[in-house]
Parts: sequence; C-alpha cells; structure tokens
Amino acid sequence: MSKLTLDRILQSQGFGTRKWCSELIADGEVSLGDKAVRDSRIAFETDGLEFAVYGEVWTYREHVYIALNKPANFECSRKASHHPGVLTLLPEQFARRDVQPVGRLDHDTTGLLLMSDDGPFIHKQSSPKHHVPKVYVATTQEPVTPELVAQLLAGVKLHDEPGSLAAVTCRKVDIHQLEIVLEQGKYHQVKRMLAAAENHCVALRRTQIGLLKLDELGLAEGAWCYLDAAQLALLKPG
Ligand code: URA
Repeated sequence: MSKLTLDRILQSQGFGTRKWCSELIADGEVSLGDKAVRDSRIAFETDGLEFAVYGEVWTYREHVYIALNKPANFECSRKASHHPGVLTLLPEQFARRDVQPVGRLDHDTTGLLLMSDDGPFIHKQSSPKHHVPKVYVATTQEPVTPELVAQLLAGVKLHDEPGSLAAVTCRKVDIHQLEIVLEQGKYHQVKRMLAAAENHCVALRRTQIGLLKLDELGLAEGAWCYLDAAQLALLKPG
C-alpha cells in the first residue's frame, strides 16, 4: 500500500508534468467518486484507486501490461518513419509513461503484440534466454508441401546466423498457409526461414505467445486490452 498526492498520481499515470497535473486538478477536471478534487496536495491510497480525468474513469496502475491486436502498416520502432507507430493506437498518456512494445513485429505483420512500461518485464520477455514459444500463421506464395514443413522442422541456415534455425513445431493449415512455432525472435525470422526453404511469406500473423491466445482476448483489429495476473502467468516458458 502506498499513498501519493493527487498531482503525483496523475503524473505517474502519464497525464503530464506535475505542474500540468496540478493545473488540471485546480481547474476541477479531476474527480474521485463523482466529486471534483481541486487540491493537488491531498494524498490518496493508490491501490485500486479510481479517478476521472475530463469525465473518463481510470484505475491507478503501477505498471501497465497490454495486449494489442496489431493491424498491418504500423511500426513497432520508437521513432516510426514510414508508418504510424503502434503507440498511436493507445491512449496518449501511455506513451508519456514510457509504454513500449515487447519485442517487435514487422510493419506488415499483424496479431498479438505485448506492450508495457515495466522495464524488467520487457527485458525478461524479450531475452533470448526466455524460451517462450510464439505461434505465427504464415501465408505463403508457393504451396505448403510436406518437404517445406520437414525443412522448417529440421532447421534452415540463415545468412548471418551461426547455426541453423528450426521451428519448434510446424504444420500445414491450408494449401498456402502454415502454422509455425518459434522460440527465438531473430530479425524477420519467419520470413527469412521461408525464403531459405525456397518459399515466400506473403502475410504473417502472430496468434499466440506462450499460452496466451489472441483469439481468446476477443480484440478487434487495432484494439487493445489490459492483461491481468492470470493472463500474464500464461506468458511463462512452456
Ligand atoms: N518473423 C518475421 O519474419 N516477422 C515478424 O514480424 C515476426 C517474426
């Protein structure tokens, strides 16, 4: 349990500088339980605190853990250059509290993307030592053959990678679609593995991380949700 003054609470949640938050409060734009609080120095217990800014209700969160159903044509890089960044799909205060993508998806890859402002969580989830399987569905230019599946399971050699890289599992879904599960997160890995096996990836979607399934989150394309403790527990290595 910890107590913070209202201006610090708003600042920690990404609503702006402490000065800006104090002004918001003094202007009567911040309320607790339907009552505007105009004194920014009043301290509140942060645990489970609900407050409204411009009438929109928020719950205090020390950190946020978010799942986004990423659409195509959004970049994960911090300084997006050719396409808008994925942070533009979230409320603007999230960028101010330093929410970042956990790992990266290519601009044209769709599906499950985790985002957070918890540094150790981001680091752990992105570490090559953290063997969390990630499930992708790839649409291929050439038909999916038993030989292609066998090659991806046996491992393919990628330029600039010392050994060969293999899928944890791989199966044909349709004539031009396969499901591939990877534990590493090398640059363009699925696309490069398909190219090394003499096929070509024309579309890529991440459907699952660990045991967390995008389908079960019920997110429309471009929509996001907070992840609770039970959902975060699904992100552990298998
Ligand atoms: N593999 C790729 O090639 N691209 C991605 O975005 C993710 C995995």
